[in-house]
Amino acid sequence: MGVLDGKVAVVTGSGRGIGRGIAMLYAAEGAKVIVNDPGVAVDGSGHDEGPAAQVVNEIKEAGGEASANFDSVAKFSGGENMVKQAVDTYGRIDIVVNVAGILRDRMVFNMTHQEWDDVIAVHLKGHYNTIKPASVLMRQQRYGRIINFSSSSGLIGNTGQVNYGAAKAGIGGLTRGVARDLGRYGITVNSISPGAATRMTATVPDAARDLRAQAGVSGAASNAPVQESAFLRRDPDDVAPMAAFLASDDAWNINGQIFYVNGSRVGLTNHPVPEDGVFKPGLWTMPELDDAVHNVLLKDKKNPAPPREDVEVPGRDVDAKSLA
Ligand SMILES: NC(=O)c1ccc[n+]([C@@H]2O[C@H](COP(=O)([O-])OP(=O)(O)OC[C@H]3O[C@@H](n4cnc5c(N)ncnc54)[C@H](O)[C@@H]3O)[C@@H](O)[C@H]2O)c1
Repeated sequence: MGVLDGKVAVVTGSGRGIGRGIAMLYAAEGAKVIVNDPGVAVDGSGHDEGPAAQVVNEIKEAGGEASANFDSVAKFSGGENMVKQAVDTYGRIDIVVNVAGILRDRMVFNMTHQEWDDVIAVHLKGHYNTIKPASVLMRQQRYGRIINFSSSSGLIGNTGQVNYGAAKAGIGGLTRGVARDLGRYGITVNSISPGAATRMTATVPDAARDLRAQAGVSGAASNAPVQESAFLRRDPDDVAPMAAFLASDDAWNINGQIFYVNGSRVGLTNHPVPEDGVFKPGLWTMPELDDAVHNVLLKDKKNPAPPREDVEVPGRDVDAKSLA
């Protein structure tokens, strides 16, 4: 008996990395799985049916049920085809896991419009493209599980990833919004912000990681309360148990949440709410805002990306003198 016995799942981008681990565990837990993956390179180029076909073979060899799909989530027809394939092959659709992803890292001033559009299309629109057709059927059957993939790059911010970060932050907003649209019909919608060593993270140069760490923006994983390195195994398969739990009946009342899953550490993100407030009757003057923003709202808060020393910054001298 598995926790997903009889369930039918679409797992996008499950030919490799984190998605592969989820497809394998879902099948081991009794789900019938549509293994979607067009087998593209990290930047989204190319097409290779090998990875999805291989995962389907491995699932079948282990006694599970799976069927390969090679559509791109970036197209609405791709999302529709995956859901249709689930219904045509296995009779229904219960679970959608949106794992597919690409990277086109570039500083914003060098970014091409294509790099922006392509990353938004796979991640943000890719989530919509599967959720929309699945939600129609899930609403009718009064049951469903949707599990999305965000990132600390979107929830916190990262250098050179404005396209990816914007999409991943958008997925946070989409998760909370769709959860409110569908929760009343017995459907849950949650998101995972993972950390794992895959070919995707291998593309981030060590120099960039060091810079981010020095600036104190290395990501939520390193800021989380539990620091023991034993928990940070970074194996992509470590993300799968949480994705299976969220799809199980035991998670029926967990909705609209974003979880960090990194190695064997699972965390919950807080909902963005105003942290602090300042108030006065009437309009603020600039000197009053200078005082309130610096000395109340941002007291003890660090600028995640301060100007370099060699950059002449109007205002920095004034602050330096007033501190002296
Ligand atoms: N690995 C991490 O530490 C990490 C951190 C934060 C977020 N994420 C997110 O987790 C997810 C999985 O990442 P991963 O590290 O396993 O990456 P990965 O590159 O190993 O796997 C991603 C898979 O998505 C597939 N894919 C790409 N474009 C697609 C498309 N248009 N349609 C369908 N499939 C497509 C690729 O072919 C690939 O097999 C991604 O959404 C990623 O942004 C990963």
